[in-house]
Amino acid sequence: VLKRIPARIRGPTGPARAGGLALLSMNESPYPPLPSVGRAITDAVADLHRYPDDEGMSLREELASRYGRPVEQVALGAGSSELCLQAALATVNPGSGVVFASPSFPLYSLITQLLSGEPRIVSLREDRLDLEAMLAAVSPGTRLVYVCNPNNPTGTSVEPEALAAFLRAVPEDCLVVLDEAYREFAGPGFPDGLGLLDEHPNLLVLRTFSKAYGLAGLRLGYGVAAPEVIEGLRRTHLPYSVSRPALEAGAASLRAEGELTERVDAVIAERERLAKGLTALGYDPTPSDANFLWVRTPGSASLERNLLDHGVAIRSFADEAIRISVGAPEENALLLEVLGSGVQSPR
Ligand SMILES: Cc1ncc(COP(=O)(O)O)c(C=O)c1O
Repeated sequence: VLKRIPARIRGPTGPARAGGLALLSMNESPYPPLPSVGRAITDAVADLHRYPDDEGMSLREELASRYGRPVEQVALGAGSSELCLQAALATVNPGSGVVFASPSFPLYSLITQLLSGEPRIVSLREDRLDLEAMLAAVSPGTRLVYVCNPNNPTGTSVEPEALAAFLRAVPEDCLVVLDEAYREFAGPGFPDGLGLLDEHPNLLVLRTFSKAYGLAGLRLGYGVAAPEVIEGLRRTHLPYSVSRPALEAGAASLRAEGELTERVDAVIAERERLAKGLTALGYDPTPSDANFLWVRTPGSASLERNLLDHGVAIRSFADEAIRISVGAPEENALLLEVLGSGVQSPR
């Protein structure tokens, strides 16, 4: 298996302030935890000599009541990444087909390779998921489809009608993971995955506390699905993977929803300012429903290096596009300033 897996290439991570770097490459929140969430985390420290509640019952109950569903329909994971893996552990045998788009969240490909599944990779069409082509890639041996909505790295979303038609057409013995990691940043008209659950017992909706809730470093995500799907996640779950500080921070974040929504609104406003600034410099950012912007620009690999030399980390894809995470206003301003100073002209 390891021969198939490419070595990890790690870009800069960690506290940006420490390195004086504007870290716009990880799709994180630019905001530190809210004081109330920080307090919940420090209070949980006193019990760290004990294992956490492996059922995560109290947070699952809060999420369940928030969405008007029984607790048997909610699972927690150490980030939605763990739930992406568990969904595959529960469904994929060696040789099983796994459908996902490219470019999309790279974890889908890694998981498929780790489990010796058969990747069926579907190209985007005009930076969007091509659900018709993804459906065509589903064959009788396909056990799993990852639908990333909004899509990382392009920030585009699928239309509600297209998603509904896709779900109606996928066979029921194939699990569809609808990864909504960035949904909070999407505009009106974004399809609500949870609203589709009752019609589709093979649908698993994943959400995360890492992005809009700003808890990427704590590792907490959740999935909502029919009880049978959640049971599959429970059986494939690594015991105690979700820590007590994460459970407490999740609950505190739900209580602080109003303040977090203000932060999301600020990120959206900043995203639009950044898009305008990029357009003024001659770039053509793709309209985004996420906390990042996708900008096609050939020669993006050298642009990534040049920007890093000037203290700004972004991500280049295949030397043809960059993805810029929306940072704090001063970080976004620094990016625009460096780009405007002619570090490399747009192509
Ligand atoms: C599309 C998508 N899904 C899931 C994740 C995983 O997030 P986490 O494991 O932090 O919840 C990411 C992280 O970047 C992502 O881009």
